[in-house]
Amino acid sequence: MQILDGKLVSKAIKDQLALNVAELKAQGKKVPHLAAILVGNDGASETYVASKVKSCAEIGYHSTLLRFDDHISEKHLLDHINMLNENPDVDGILVQLPLPKSINEELVINTIDPSKDVDGFHPMNVGKMVSGLPTFIPATPYGIMLMLEHYNIETKGKHAVVIGRSHIVGTPMSILLSRNSNPGNCTVTLCHSQTKNLKELCLQADIVVAAIGRPDFVTGDMVKEGAVVIDVGINRVADNTKKSGFRLVGDVKFDEVAPKCSFITPVPGGVGPMTIAALLKNTYHSAIGQKG
Ligand code: GUN
Repeated sequence: MQILDGKLVSKAIKDQLALNVAELKAQGKKVPHLAAILVGNDGASETYVASKVKSCAEIGYHSTLLRFDDHISEKHLLDHINMLNENPDVDGILVQLPLPKSINEELVINTIDPSKDVDGFHPMNVGKMVSGLPTFIPATPYGIMLMLEHYNIETKGKHAVVIGRSHIVGTPMSILLSRNSNPGNCTVTLCHSQTKNLKELCLQADIVVAAIGRPDFVTGDMVKEGAVVIDVGINRVADNTKKSGFRLVGDVKFDEVAPKCSFITPVPGGVGPMTIAALLKNTYHSAIGQKG
């Protein structure tokens, strides 16, 4: 069993991006600029956004963080997005999800200029992705594809079972894995809350991507010997022995599943860092006028 080390792979990608930024500077060009919007004070969202902003600084990008409290009006938020759309210095805009219930998430996403939508959530970019056209690929599934590529994991002809059909992870993941590309060329089964025979399907999987958001959901008896297991879950579980009061647990019961795997991602240190590396890659592509 080999651990897929997201920290290591993301560092290699970030190091390359830092070199690219230095090159842009040497040519007198502007550096990539990511604008992040965070509404409210959800602890997990704060951590993710802080980590995105910190990574920008590490590799020489500019970043802007706009913070608003839960009570911001939808109009005020849309006005800010429009300002970022119109600011030629800004290359990438991300609005951290989820948003408070009072705000229409779809309207917010639709307001982001598709050419700055480095999360790849705008329907125009989703449509391009489904059509196989160059566009921004959502960061988590893009990061997973980069990880599979880095470790040269054979995906052609394999049966991939993706658990979870979110627009952020499961749905785009199923599309990317089924594409005629490398990595890709999988036969994909997309499972969700209404799937009846989840365990039998998982047991047939050569590759399992768990993106359900439920701690320890995938257990040892659900995974076949030699499978590749990608754990997207970052669940906070109460733990009084920790200073923070919680510990992070994946969607996969690591101790049971790992011994059966050929490759597995840990939590933390697996998919999480890859998501950030992929976002930074999208932002770089936006800055140089490319989409992937
Ligand atoms: N919330 C959870 N994952 C993501 C992500 O990739 N992008 C944004 N904007 N919000 C998220």
